[in-house]
Amino acid sequence: MNKNKVYIETYGCQMNLADTEVVMGILNNKGYELTKEIDSADVVLLNTCSVRDNAEQRIHGRLGNIGTLKQKNPNMVIGILGCMAERLRDDLIKKKKMVDLVVGPDEYRRLPELIDTAFAGGKGIGVKLSRTETYEDIEPYREEGLAAWISVMRGCDKFCTYCVVPFTRGRERSSKLTSVVEEVRLLSERGFREVTLLGQNVNSYSDGENDFADLLTACAEVDNNLRIRFMTSHPQDLSDKLLYIISEYSNICNYIHLPVQSGSDRVLKEMNRTYTIEHYLGIIERARKIIPSVTFSTDIIVGFPTETEEEHKMTLDIMAKVRYDGAFMFKYSPRKGTRAFKMEDDIPENVKSRRLTEIIDQQLKIAYEINQELIGTEDIVLVENLSKKSDQFYSGRTDTNKIVILPIGNNVKIGDFVKVKLYKATSATLFGDFIEIVDVYRK
Ligand code: 5AD
Ligand code: SF4
Repeated sequence: MNKNKVYIETYGCQMNLADTEVVMGILNNKGYELTKEIDSADVVLLNTCSVRDNAEQRIHGRLGNIGTLKQKNPNMVIGILGCMAERLRDDLIKKKKMVDLVVGPDEYRRLPELIDTAFAGGKGIGVKLSRTETYEDIEPYREEGLAAWISVMRGCDKFCTYCVVPFTRGRERSSKLTSVVEEVRLLSERGFREVTLLGQNVNSYSDGENDFADLLTACAEVDNNLRIRFMTSHPQDLSDKLLYIISEYSNICNYIHLPVQSGSDRVLKEMNRTYTIEHYLGIIERARKIIPSVTFSTDIIVGFPTETEEEHKMTLDIMAKVRYDGAFMFKYSPRKGTRAFKMEDDIPENVKSRRLTEIIDQQLKIAYEINQELIGTEDIVLVENLSKKSDQFYSGRTDTNKIVILPIGNNVKIGDFVKVKLYKATSATLFGDFIEIVDVYRK
């Protein structure tokens, strides 16, 4: 019997989605086939996230369900990939007997060999971190689509005190500019219309000769009808050179994900974030000067150890000052092995919850107000899908990453860039009338 059907579930960040495509690229080369039906799979892989405890709890829960499947089909190989594999290592195999494979983010090349070990009745473990692995020579397995991502650097050297990523993904290393540009070219030829360059900290991209601004320039020049996005930027390293490049190329999106984490300099220091609020606001101000239509999103943690009520108000304050278009907001979750883990997790759960609700409420209000101001203006939308709510509408996104609903008709197809006039808005969605299809993407 051919044991070649692989089913894979991905948890966590976009980096993991990109890694799943690399994993499928590697397995595909060895004759494995992707299946969307877990019941018929010979190999079931979970690509996991460790960034917060609730992500890990979800995965433990999922493993419980999969265990029942394995009872029915004892030959099924079950594997944990990604950050949880790296963090928990062979403990996973000791505690969860059903797990046959534990493979961290830098050992995916060995997956075929480790899967063979598992089929032969052994346990496949690969959890070494690498200083050089970038998988740049591996062609990720991508289904047809419009938006793709490319991981351009791996790992993180920042060591924010709350964050487990430097431990699960290891040191920073970058793919060569030429290999990223080649991938962008292939995607453009296949008809993709948007590429996101990914890294935990893209601004420290360096392949020895080129920095991130150089990389972005080279990618933007491949095809001016292909939108380029990037994330995540660390406020310490975001250069003016990069801002000028964004303003210069019409196909580089006017959208920067710039995590602030907290509004208090003291908390930022405890987090080892290496910038002050003054420095952060300076970047925002310069970015708005250089790229007038730029929008920002951010990440925020509430309830970091010792965060006072006053410091929490400072977080509300910076959000009100910057007026982010979007924010990912989290309660602090202690992660073993990090420096903050040694501090007492002293903010009670109910206080964390209340602080989280306060920042979410404020963010929704700000996003609503920002979107109301857009009514009556024009923008260009990449048409991506049929609207989920009605069969008379498409949904798409602006280059500032906002979802726009627009009518089906006027010869508009999925994949077109369409100029619309906005007539209605909620905090999360804009509604636009058709103006014209845009042949060459220009803002
Ligand atoms: N607890 C809560 N949020 C965290 N993040 C990272 N580590 C933790 C943690 N221990 C958040 C940060 C980061 C985002 C990806 O996840 O805000 O920017
Ligand atoms: Fe974690 Fe900080 Fe690195 Fe982001 S920059 S991955 S929060 S250590």
